[in-house]
Amino acid sequence: TEKWVYMVTAQTPTNIAVIKYWGKRDEVRILPVNDSISVTLDPDHLCTVTTVSVSPSFDRDRMWLNGKEISLSGSRYQTCLREIRSRGGDVEDKEKGIKIEKKNWEKLNLHIASHNNFPTAAGLASSAAGFACLVFSLAKLMNVDEDSSQLSAIARQGSGSACRSLFGGFVKWTMGSKDDGSDSVAVQLADEKYWDDLVIIIAVVSSREKETSSTSGMRETVETSLLLQHRAKEIVPKRIVQMEEAIKNRDFASFTRLSCTDSNQFHAVCLDTSPPIFYMNDTSHRIISLVEKWNRSEGTPQVAYTFDAGPNAVLIARNRKVAVQLLQGLLYYFPPKSDTDMKSYVVGDNSILK
Ligand code: PMV
Repeated sequence: TEKWVYMVTAQTPTNIAVIKYWGKRDEVRILPVNDSISVTLDPDHLCTVTTVSVSPSFDRDRMWLNGKEISLSGSRYQTCLREIRSRGGDVEDKEKGIKIEKKNWEKLNLHIASHNNFPTAAGLASSAAGFACLVFSLAKLMNVDEDSSQLSAIARQGSGSACRSLFGGFVKWTMGSKDDGSDSVAVQLADEKYWDDLVIIIAVVSSREKETSSTSGMRETVETSLLLQHRAKEIVPKRIVQMEEAIKNRDFASFTRLSCTDSNQFHAVCLDTSPPIFYMNDTSHRIISLVEKWNRSEGTPQVAYTFDAGPNAVLIARNRKVAVQLLQGLLYYFPPKSDTDMKSYVVGDNSILK
């Protein structure tokens, strides 16, 4: 058999929604009940690094996540692999003497190694970075000729929020109206340089894996919450327009009001689910109170907060100066419990501040 291995490595940051996606209208294709808007983090911090390789000597597709082999048999992985393979092009690497014809992508097996540099499944959108990176690296490996929005529709079928990590900066995932999902794609609203005064701080309140996965949580919410219906139909469409406007104008006051109220409504919708879902804890609530009090005392908002499907706080400071004050405040109100270094700093129960 031939001995060559051809590989590609990519790095993809995670994204944090400021107008949340919660609820699917189609669980198989992963089509949401509303649009969402997110900000993609710096590539160096919370990210996934994935190496994909192909070789005639591989006898089946295999994947390792953080060094441990995981199964690729789930339908989400299978969909992403199938969709990318069917779009593969010819590849030629003259230096290495490798030539792969596009018809062979269906036959050749892959090895995939992926690492998250942050806790997996702790409500820090690890699946967002993970599936975005998987789809992007495979598309590069197989020389797929599609733009980022087209790739986002594939990543979406791995994990909804993943479609937004194909772009940097501010990104909108439009829910689309077609049944096949072809118009449920991510688009960039503003690139990463557009509003670079903002500083994002993630207070890791707990790095434990969440108890309710977003998939089962969303299903229960869609089935039982009347508040979600109202949110998806009446509230989010207006908020999306306002948030786009706030980003366009770099209007931090509106940005903060919209982010905070949308995060709170997402958690209210979780509480309105039967049985109720609790993602935030006492430390999360204390952080919210602190930020709310600070913003009010300053007269104009300094920090926005948002919480995903977990207790960890994502805090967005209006500039570096405010970010330093915010860190000082967090250190004061959540003093370290042990001598861990300042990079992984304890703020509450089992908590680090990054
Ligand atoms: O893509 P999922 O299934 O991990 O869902 C993510 C849902 C939230 O993170 C809570 C909100 C969002 O828009 O990212």
